[in-house]
Amino acid sequence: MSRSSSAFGKAVGVGVGAIVVVALGIQLVPYGRDHTNPAVVTQTNWDSPQTRELFYRACADCHSNETQWPWYSNVAPVSWLVMRDTLEGREQFNVSGGSSGREGQGGEGGESESPAERIQDGSMPLPIYLVMHPEARLTAEEKQLLSAGVEATFGASGVTAPAVASSP
Ligand code: HEC
Repeated sequence: MSRSSSAFGKAVGVGVGAIVVVALGIQLVPYGRDHTNPAVVTQTNWDSPQTRELFYRACADCHSNETQWPWYSNVAPVSWLVMRDTLEGREQFNVSGGSSGREGQGGEGGESESPAERIQDGSMPLPIYLVMHPEARLTAEEKQLLSAGVEATFGASGVTAPAVASSP
């Protein structure tokens, strides 16, 4: 009996060792480590300070160039996920300018939805984001305010922002 339990113990030890080696090894993968935010090209002309505040609370980490990178965004494999969502989010809709257009419309991912629709149907902010960002949870009233605010700011259908170029 002691024999089999020690064999079991050994197997567990090897398993844990392998997990530790893999966990450390994946930290060497370069993807997801560069957290240099691109320059802010345009400033969005928000319809109100409140819209801006709600947007920065719930959306800006993935839809602006002012991403705040928490400590766990440095730890693989979470870093890969955070990087992917941030780059994809910016590509689709970016209040800091750059690729903020809807050029992907009808292409990959099918129909584009407006920010207001995304807020109302609960698909934005991405649910996984809320796990580590409870402050990004919006009450029904805040959803209402934010979707009305983004519509007033970006127009009913879209994300083609009437952005003002930040003057040099
Ligand atoms: C954790 C990162 C993250 C957060 C936070 C986030 N988004 Fe997104 N967003 C994405 C990603 C990734 C996509 C592309 C995949 C998809 O469409 O689901 C996306 C897509 C979108 C699109 C679709 C654009 C298009 O042209 O189809 C809109 C609109 C949008 N987000 C609005 C918002 C709004 C509004 C908020 C805040 C309430 C928000 N997002 C918060 C990552 C995020």
